[in-house]
Amino acid sequence: MLRRRRAALAPPLEESVLSATATMAKLIARPVARLHGRVRAPGDKSISHRALMFGALALGETRVSGLLEGEDVLATVAALRALGAEVEHQGPGLWQVRGFGVGGGREPGNILDLGNSGTAARLLSGILASHPFTSFMTGDASLRGRPMQRVIEPLSHMGARFHGREGGRMPLAIIGTDEMVPIEYRLPVASAQVKSAILLAGLNTAGETTVIEPEATRDHTERMLRHFGAEVRVGPAEGGGKRITVVGWPELRGRDIVVPGDPSSAAFAVVAAAIRPGSDVTVENVGVNPLRAGLYETLREMGADIAFENARDVGGEPVADLHVKGGGLKGVEVPAHRAPSMIDEYPILAMAAACAEGSTHMLGLAELRAKESDRLASVAAGLAANGVRHEMGADTLVVHGTGAAPAGGGVVKAHLDHRIAMSFLVLGLAAREPVAIDDGSPIDTSFPGFAALINGLGGKVGPA
Ligand code: S3P
Repeated sequence: MLRRRRAALAPPLEESVLSATATMAKLIARPVARLHGRVRAPGDKSISHRALMFGALALGETRVSGLLEGEDVLATVAALRALGAEVEHQGPGLWQVRGFGVGGGREPGNILDLGNSGTAARLLSGILASHPFTSFMTGDASLRGRPMQRVIEPLSHMGARFHGREGGRMPLAIIGTDEMVPIEYRLPVASAQVKSAILLAGLNTAGETTVIEPEATRDHTERMLRHFGAEVRVGPAEGGGKRITVVGWPELRGRDIVVPGDPSSAAFAVVAAAIRPGSDVTVENVGVNPLRAGLYETLREMGADIAFENARDVGGEPVADLHVKGGGLKGVEVPAHRAPSMIDEYPILAMAAACAEGSTHMLGLAELRAKESDRLASVAAGLAANGVRHEMGADTLVVHGTGAAPAGGGVVKAHLDHRIAMSFLVLGLAAREPVAIDDGSPIDTSFPGFAALINGLGGKVGPA
């Protein structure tokens, strides 16, 4: 129903892309002995959104290869078209954007429906707030429940106005202005989306706009804005953290962007192999930006055998092929300061912890409650349904593994959250009994082809 409504609002997309859209479907994963083979990680979601948005804010042509053609990124395509960018699908993963330039977007003729995508909503709010028109945003039930106050507050300081539901939730009206005031803003939460929204608004603002982040978050915006020709300065902040400044009114020029594979998606195949002894899997082309790689550090501390092979640079991002051999995980403590570098990976880490010997303590997880679902609660409920001992606190999760296969046999609610769905399907490969999820359709937001990729390695994921 929601999906059909979204399709009606969005400009038509290429059929090959639309065919990736799934309907609500129960999925099940059955236990397998081991996984084996080589696969390629799908394109990075964070970088894909940014490549399209920055291409729209540039003049001239931007050619993107390796773009993730998941529903979240397609929501960004539709929104940018509504703003006047020409975005063309030229082949698998190949897209061309003809931008409207900084401040050159036109008033969208309808509500922008961003589906399930928090990144699209937060980053676009920075772009829309700095245009002199009113625009409207909404999304699916998950996105409409997520906090937007975190972007509304700084963007209001800059001069935009907003009308939303209680707590600044969507649907949201954004009354933008092209007379934004530059600010210096200290992030109250570690969020690359909030940082990026402010920096994007700063592009169409006279003077220098500064974000101070107490804890470093993914820096794709800073790296890519420079690539498009913006002046972005990064240095230490007084009192700790990073100070990031963008100089307003740059002339952004269209560029070629090669999108590396997504470490957050690769994580599912890597953990699936790590928890099945005897597995030997290589996931090629994985982005290993240190600000995204906390899961891999943690898995290694747990005793996982993961080699970074063929390390190279792809489009200004460090990339490697991850070679994983399964077996022998131990529980560890994961410190709170590591959370920003693996914020999307706690659900899949919890599955590794369920298969490890000993307890894994995960700390500093408050932000997990503000994701596509309350991920702390979703993970805890799923663990309970599959016989895994654990304790959930306000911002902590402790998972007690025994080193033996978890019981499994549960049906897990995905709560419109792709990472919950994929994580518990991975658990099903290693549990004693199959694990089912009530709805696999959110997987297409970030990882179309997930089941085929896992099954290509010897997994057993299919309709329940
Ligand atoms: C993202 C930032 C993170 C992450 C999300 C993608 C981004 O969100 O969870 O999946 O592309 O900037 P927060 O900024 O809310 O932590």
